[in-house]
Amino acid sequence: MSYCLNPNCPKPESLDSTEVCQTCGTKLLLGDRYRSVKLLGSGGFGRTFLAIDQLKPSKPSCVIKQFSPQGQGSNHDKAAELFQQEVIRLDELGHHPQIPELLAHYQQENQQYLIQEFIAGQNLAEELKIQGVFNQSKIRQLLSNLLPALQFIHGHNVIHRDIKPENIIHRLGKDVADYVLVDFGAAKHAINNDLRKTGTSIGSPEFVAPEQARGKALFNSDLYSLGVTCIHLLTQASPFDLIDIDHNWVWRDYLTGNNVSNDLGKILDKLIAIAPSKRYQSADEVLKDLNPQAAIAIIINTVAESQQSNVISTPKSIHEDLGNGIVLEMTSIPAGEFIMGSPENEESHENTESPQHRVKIPPFFMGTFAITQAQFRAIMNASPSYMVGDDHPVECVSWNAVVEFCTLLSQKTGHNYRLPSEAEWEYACRANTKTPFHFGSAINTG
Ligand SMILES: Nc1ncnc2c1ncn2[C@@H]1O[C@H](COP(=O)(O)OP(=O)(O)O)[C@@H](O)[C@H]1O
Ligand SMILES: [Mg+2]
Repeated sequence: MSYCLNPNCPKPESLDSTEVCQTCGTKLLLGDRYRSVKLLGSGGFGRTFLAIDQLKPSKPSCVIKQFSPQGQGSNHDKAAELFQQEVIRLDELGHHPQIPELLAHYQQENQQYLIQEFIAGQNLAEELKIQGVFNQSKIRQLLSNLLPALQFIHGHNVIHRDIKPENIIHRLGKDVADYVLVDFGAAKHAINNDLRKTGTSIGSPEFVAPEQARGKALFNSDLYSLGVTCIHLLTQASPFDLIDIDHNWVWRDYLTGNNVSNDLGKILDKLIAIAPSKRYQSADEVLKDLNPQAAIAIIINTVAESQQSNVISTPKSIHEDLGNGIVLEMTSIPAGEFIMGSPENEESHENTESPQHRVKIPPFFMGTFAITQAQFRAIMNASPSYMVGDDHPVECVSWNAVVEFCTLLSQKTGHNYRLPSEAEWEYACRANTKTPFHFGSAINTG
């Protein structure tokens, strides 16, 4: 099966696997290697095809993006520049599990092409059409999963500028939902004053932030588009209908019984604030509001509520595969209440440990052991430790390095990791006991 890449071919589809198109004579193999088999989409700047890599024995799928803009003159030049940008952006962003990898870039028969990794799954517009509106747990999952990827892109000074359901693919075959961001055609490198410079307005009108529509895209213009994507997925209504004539969002009127908690509603409202200064400033900020209780942990509720997986009860532990045989074991800590702090008459009591007070803790997972140097290196490619040894706990780690470790670990595993709060530490250590140590009132090293 082949799909001829010539935009003017009268009969591009053919069942043959020949070298040249039987209808128009165009070469069917791009770079003598990639055979396009199906048209996935076409926009103003070109077309996207599903293809196969004929050179590899397993003939894996890949995606060809062809640059063939309609229009000429300055429009053509602008489009050519955008295509080049997509190539550069994808290459620059390197390898991230939620961004398709750039495999090659070609010029053939006066057309430009880029080849990228194929992501098996449906885009969210297709998923919405087939499965209907998303419930709030799915929206939380989408946000928790995609925001670290956005944080990564923004950390590389890139603004995606075209976040919308069509450009988010729900990857198939993952236990925990994994969303992949595609279409970096409009993505822009935002260096210094570039951010303030008025540029060309790009993006999809329904999802684009007002300042971006005026040519001034900011990092949080992407957060706005992600927020609008969410309210669209919750309502299945056009975003134009979800805002009234005075620029007030009325998305709640379109929920038709789809329940959205106050907490999530507030987060969405802050994502889609019209004024960029009233909006979340970073993906990280949204994640903090979204997962206030997740200690070095996953939000159990999200997993338990998940419609994607058939997890009905929380597993006692999870094992994260960090590659090369290195595993991170996390133990489930059930929800509960405890008295935080220590009694004033306890040995070694300190003033900071009183007054004792009752604290409620939602469920979370905690590392069964301290992070080892091997685990740290698996994520960060380096270990700062003084007492060197793969199985020794990692030490001499700065606060910033820990934050980065948690972010990268979250990206790798799709679970939200952070440091535990003091209350979570104490709760997990006490393990329902009231003694200074969970095993008794004194450490006996003899
Ligand atoms: N790497 C990919 N893997 C799988 N499907 C993809 C990939 N890239 C794009 N697609 C699918 O093709 C569609 C069009 O591709 P896209 O890059 O968004 O181009 P366009 O500029 O036409 O919007 C997307 O909506 C998505 O469904
Ligand atoms: Mg697209």
